[in-house]
Amino acid sequence: MGKVTSNRALGEDFYLMRVEEENNARMGQFYMLRAWETYPVLSRPISVYDADKESVSFLYKVVGKGTELLCQLKEGDEITLDGAHGNGFPSLADKKRIALVGGGVGIAPLYLAAKTYKKENPDCTVNIYLGFSGKTVLTEEFDAVCDKLVVNVGGFVTDDIDPTAYDAIVTCGPTIMMKVLYSKCVKCQAAAPLYVSMENRMACGIGACLVCSCRTANGNRKVCKDGPVFLGSEVFGIE
Ligand code: FES
Repeated sequence: MGKVTSNRALGEDFYLMRVEEENNARMGQFYMLRAWETYPVLSRPISVYDADKESVSFLYKVVGKGTELLCQLKEGDEITLDGAHGNGFPSLADKKRIALVGGGVGIAPLYLAAKTYKKENPDCTVNIYLGFSGKTVLTEEFDAVCDKLVVNVGGFVTDDIDPTAYDAIVTCGPTIMMKVLYSKCVKCQAAAPLYVSMENRMACGIGACLVCSCRTANGNRKVCKDGPVFLGSEVFGIE
């Protein structure tokens, strides 16, 4: 059981919640969050935005009953954190030029990713591309942890990036955005591997129910357990 230390509205139904809880969460992982007894039945999978040993932060968007209950939590309230789950983003310590591309609430895991990549190789360049449909959130925070921040409002963030300028690309956001980015990488014959973080619907979060099943080049995989991070070619290169 964790204790909420802040839960702030950022606009456009985005919230940033910090929870005190000992953890070993890594970039790209997620927790199943629950702050209610019986309804809704399912806990909510939410990506880790930031983490240190004593606390975890979540950037989330209110999209249904579960997240509506989460956004009502106040400082001092208790919340059940089940996790951290998933494989998370890979180490890129041998890459010099890294791009992180996020859209909507999919920007959430890129904050800790940028911090981690800078920490594992201080000489690498990390550029972040964020796409928003309306008001922007946390751009100052993202700007502070990367070399260059590109923000796109109302357009296609995938138009802003030249994949050939990077040694590795990491993306999280709407499936269509990640798919377009994958096609762009293929079209311009980018050498950089593209890592995509899938946001399939989940139920158990631990590999037991198959609700999150995803067709890949290596057969059906569970996004919650085998992912959420896959190579773009694994999930988008099979159609
Ligand atoms: Fe149940 Fe992935 S959510 S197997």
